[in-house]
Amino acid sequence: PKEQFIEELLSKMTVDEKIGQLNLPTSGDITTGQANSSDVAKNIQEGKVGGLFNIKSAEKIREVQKIAVEKSRLKIPLLFGMDVIHGYETTFPIPLGLSSTWNLQLIERSAQIAAKEASADGINWTFSPMVDISRDPRWGRVSEGSGEDPYLGSQIAKAMVNGYQGKDLSLNNTILACVKHFALYGAPEGGRDYNTVDMSRIRMYNEYFPPYKAAVDAGVGSVMASFNEVDGIPATANKWLMTEVLRNQWKFNGFVVTDYTGIQEMSEHGIGDFQTVSALSLQAGIEMDMVSGGFLNTLKKSLDEGKVTIQQIDNAVRLILRAKYDLGLFEDPYRYCDLKRNKTDIFTQANRTEARKTATESFVLLKNDQDILPLKKSGTIAVIGPLGNNAVNMPGTWSVATKHEKAVTLTNGMQEVVGKSAKVIYAKGSNLVADAAYEERATMFGKTLNRDNRTKEELLKEALETAAQADVIIAALGESAELSGESSSRTELGIPDVQIELLEALLKTGKPVVLVLFTGRPLVLVEENKKVAAILNVWFPGTEAGYAISDVLFGDENPSGKLTATFPRSVGQIPIYYSYKNTGRPLNNSEGKFVKFLSNYIDERNEPLFPFGYGLSYTTFSYSNLKVSDGKMTSTGKIIASVDVTNTGNYDGKEVVQLYIRDIVGSVTRPVKELKGFQKINLKKGEKQTVSFEITEEELKFYNYDLEFVAEPGLFDLFIGTNSDTTEKVQFELVK
Ligand code: IFM
Repeated sequence: PKEQFIEELLSKMTVDEKIGQLNLPTSGDITTGQANSSDVAKNIQEGKVGGLFNIKSAEKIREVQKIAVEKSRLKIPLLFGMDVIHGYETTFPIPLGLSSTWNLQLIERSAQIAAKEASADGINWTFSPMVDISRDPRWGRVSEGSGEDPYLGSQIAKAMVNGYQGKDLSLNNTILACVKHFALYGAPEGGRDYNTVDMSRIRMYNEYFPPYKAAVDAGVGSVMASFNEVDGIPATANKWLMTEVLRNQWKFNGFVVTDYTGIQEMSEHGIGDFQTVSALSLQAGIEMDMVSGGFLNTLKKSLDEGKVTIQQIDNAVRLILRAKYDLGLFEDPYRYCDLKRNKTDIFTQANRTEARKTATESFVLLKNDQDILPLKKSGTIAVIGPLGNNAVNMPGTWSVATKHEKAVTLTNGMQEVVGKSAKVIYAKGSNLVADAAYEERATMFGKTLNRDNRTKEELLKEALETAAQADVIIAALGESAELSGESSSRTELGIPDVQIELLEALLKTGKPVVLVLFTGRPLVLVEENKKVAAILNVWFPGTEAGYAISDVLFGDENPSGKLTATFPRSVGQIPIYYSYKNTGRPLNNSEGKFVKFLSNYIDERNEPLFPFGYGLSYTTFSYSNLKVSDGKMTSTGKIIASVDVTNTGNYDGKEVVQLYIRDIVGSVTRPVKELKGFQKINLKKGEKQTVSFEITEEELKFYNYDLEFVAEPGLFDLFIGTNSDTTEKVQFELVK
């Protein structure tokens, strides 16, 4: 019935109506004033719109859907999209933080809750998950992804798609997902957003493609093209990428949307005028044009001139109609605008509790000298810093639906968590950055500007007076929410200087200082790591920030997050990642000793400050008895790798047990280590658990020079440990 329904509908459509389905404008003037009298409304009525994005509220969306299904000739319902990236009104940690939980159930659940809230408010399509692998923290959008690793990134991509789409897309609380940005958007030269990408195909297939493919394998309904070029052709017109890889090799059967004005931007890339680039996009395999209007305004001309075919247009329309069908919109166009659910299902206490718990698992304890943490709920605690009582920054970048002012600040959350047992005092201490113009740039949409007009000296004086009354100082420092995110590339990766001056002054008081670090990317923290006793990296925790941070600071929750992106010692080390290649001249010492004519730096060590997979706990874990069930594995067989993990410290805790494999000899060079499994386990104080992983030939496969996915016989090193630096290993052999 579905295909028959779609073919019948298609047969009734004029060319203009077909092209209209491929058009995705912004909501424009429909969000302000009367929906019915807007220009967008006129276009909807004329059948020139397939969907709209970033309109908020079920009432408004219902009104707009009504125009489509009552006033347009064929009554085709609209898609309503939004950047629901890490939660809706209940906002979860930024995606880089979410990934640091290494907890796939929690991640899936966060997407499920986001879908539940968004769908209660009219949204049926989210532009998420973003799965772009990135090994360059200068790029601001590392905050929106899951870090540097293709294996972990793939698991998370799958979890997110499952969370959003559920088992049945037509249910009123599941929404269409859109994996983005296909492809390689996380690898721009110099980390500058939208910049040129140049990469070998073998690297694409082995290191950057896997998470997109995992989302496709999980049944993602749509894909967003990336802005960048791939092999000299912008992704938006790249037929090899969109048709050969995505459709032919991966069997993707949903639709592809451009990223914003991606079509129009191809004229700037220098591959043709507006009509040419629009035709190239359709031919490459793009179905929906976001914002640029290239399809709407030029495709008919291209059809008349024989530059595109009606079959190409029909195929694109079919895919859009199928998505609408699968969402159940033909059956009930108002399925996602239930005016009751939007009052009961959004920003609920239950959802906020989940977000709080998830945030606590996303925090990464980078340092904790002399067990300064957890803190006691007693005495006087000074929260000092520009992020200490700053609600608008807590949700982090791309929190389109959030009500920023409802986010719980650290000071407020802490006051509630400690109740009457301790006194919490606060001082701002400094602005986020010294330069007002820079702060403005880092303050997209005017949301995070919270500038204090007092002088630096006045702010510092107040901070020191506050610190003088305290038993312990919590320095709440780092990036503002928009210092990372889209179009927020940086060349320096420190905490802004003005905040560092504040930190130095706080350290000079001699009181214990805990750095609570807010960031959307890996930062360079060499000095802070030398000087501060404890560093808790909280990313941007979401709306429940203040509660979640307090839960961890006071030990109600034991931190268990682990880094999913390497923290460098210096910007000059970038790109830096754990799964590097050995080279012909590896530095064979771990003391960081410089050796002439080996691959190392004259002025810096090779290894990072904090490796991938790193993160401390209030307790300690020991690993022993690493073994494999058999030293030989046949191509049809499997082996079991196991290790005993013991909680040797004083608290119950969670540990992410990580499995890495090295293919020692290959037909092409192979990384020194690749993550191939992980388990997050709970261990009570003193408890021991044997953790086992099954290894089959699948885990040993990679794309060879001819881009065949193969496992090659030979020896493999297998490592299990607490982070990617682990050196405990056993060997096994794949025999064929
Ligand atoms: O989804 C986003 C994308 O990630 C960046 N450009 C705009 C899109 C729609 O808002």
